[in-house]
Amino acid sequence: MNYEKMNIQWFPGHMTKAQRMIEENIKLVDAVCEILDARIPRSSRNPDIDRLAGGKPRLVILNRTDLADPKGTAAWRKHFEAQGLAILETDAKSGRGVKDFAPAVRALLADKLAEYEAKGQVGRPLRVMILGIPNVGKSTFINKVAGRKAAIAGDKPGVTRGKQWISIDRGLDLLDTPGILWPKFDSQEVGEMLAITNAIKADVLDKETLGANFMLRLREHYPDALRERYKFEPDPEANGFELLEAAAKKRGFLVSRGEYDIERMANTLLGEYHDGKLGRLTLEYPNE
Ligand code: G4P
Repeated sequence: MNYEKMNIQWFPGHMTKAQRMIEENIKLVDAVCEILDARIPRSSRNPDIDRLAGGKPRLVILNRTDLADPKGTAAWRKHFEAQGLAILETDAKSGRGVKDFAPAVRALLADKLAEYEAKGQVGRPLRVMILGIPNVGKSTFINKVAGRKAAIAGDKPGVTRGKQWISIDRGLDLLDTPGILWPKFDSQEVGEMLAITNAIKADVLDKETLGANFMLRLREHYPDALRERYKFEPDPEANGFELLEAAAKKRGFLVSRGEYDIERMANTLLGEYHDGKLGRLTLEYPNE
C-alpha cells in the first residue's frame, strides 16, 4: 500500500517523566495492568513495558471492545495468551467486563495471596499499577472498578495527572499513573493509529493526509464499511485523496463547481469513526 508521507513530531517531556515515575514505583506493586485500545493493541502498547514491568505479573486489558471488531479482539486475546499474559476484555464506558477485574487480579496473584496468608498478613491489599497511553480509558476504567468517582476522567489527550492510590473494596489498591507514551516514536504508522483513535491530537498531523491514509486502510480491511457509510465503490487504483473525494462527492461537500472539500471529508471520516458510526473496526491485527 502506498501511504502518503507525513511529518510527525511528538516528543513531550512529560512522557519521559511518567516513565521515570513507573521505574520509581514498580517496587511498590504486586502486579502491572496495561490498558490497551482493542482497536490498536500494538500501537497503544508501550514497547518498553517488558523492561518497565520488571518481571511483575501482568494483566492486559483490551478496552473499547465495543468499538473493536470481535474477530480482531479474539485474535489479540489468543496472541497475548500465547505470551503467557492474562487478558481481560472491557468496555469501560458501559462497564462491561469490569467486574471480572478483581477476580482476575486475585487469580494472577494467587501465589502472593497464599504467601501473605502463610505469613499471617491477612487483609494486606494487593497493589496493582495501572498503565496506559493517554485517553485509552484509564480514568473511566478505574472509576468503574471503584464504583464511584475515584479518578478524574479527562478528554484531553496528553494531559497528565499526578500519582495516586485508589483503594478498591476487598483488598485491592490501584496505582494510577499518568498516561505514558513513547519517549519518542518514529513510525508514521504508530502516529497515525494514535491520532485516528484520539490518543494524540490529530492537529499535530496533517488531517487531510491522515484521512487519506485512513481511507486506504479501510479500503484494504473494511471496504464494506466505506460502501455502507459513504455509498461509493472504493476504486482499487485510487489514492487516498481520491477516495476522500469520492466520499465527499456522495456527501455533497462541494466547494466550487466540480471541486470537493476533502478536508471536510477527512474530518467527517475521523469524527464518524470516533463515534463508532463506521461499525466496529479493528485497525491492527497480530502477525501483520
Ligand atoms: P484516560 O484516563 O486514559 O486518559 O482516558 P479516560 O478515562 O479519560 O477516557 C477517555 C475517553 O474514552 C472518555 O470519553 C471515555 O468515556 C472514553 N472511553 C473509555 N473507555 C471506553 C470504552 O471502553 N468504550 C468507549 N466507547 N469509550 C470509552 P470522553 O472524554 O467523553 O470523550 P470521547 O472520546 O467519548 O469523545
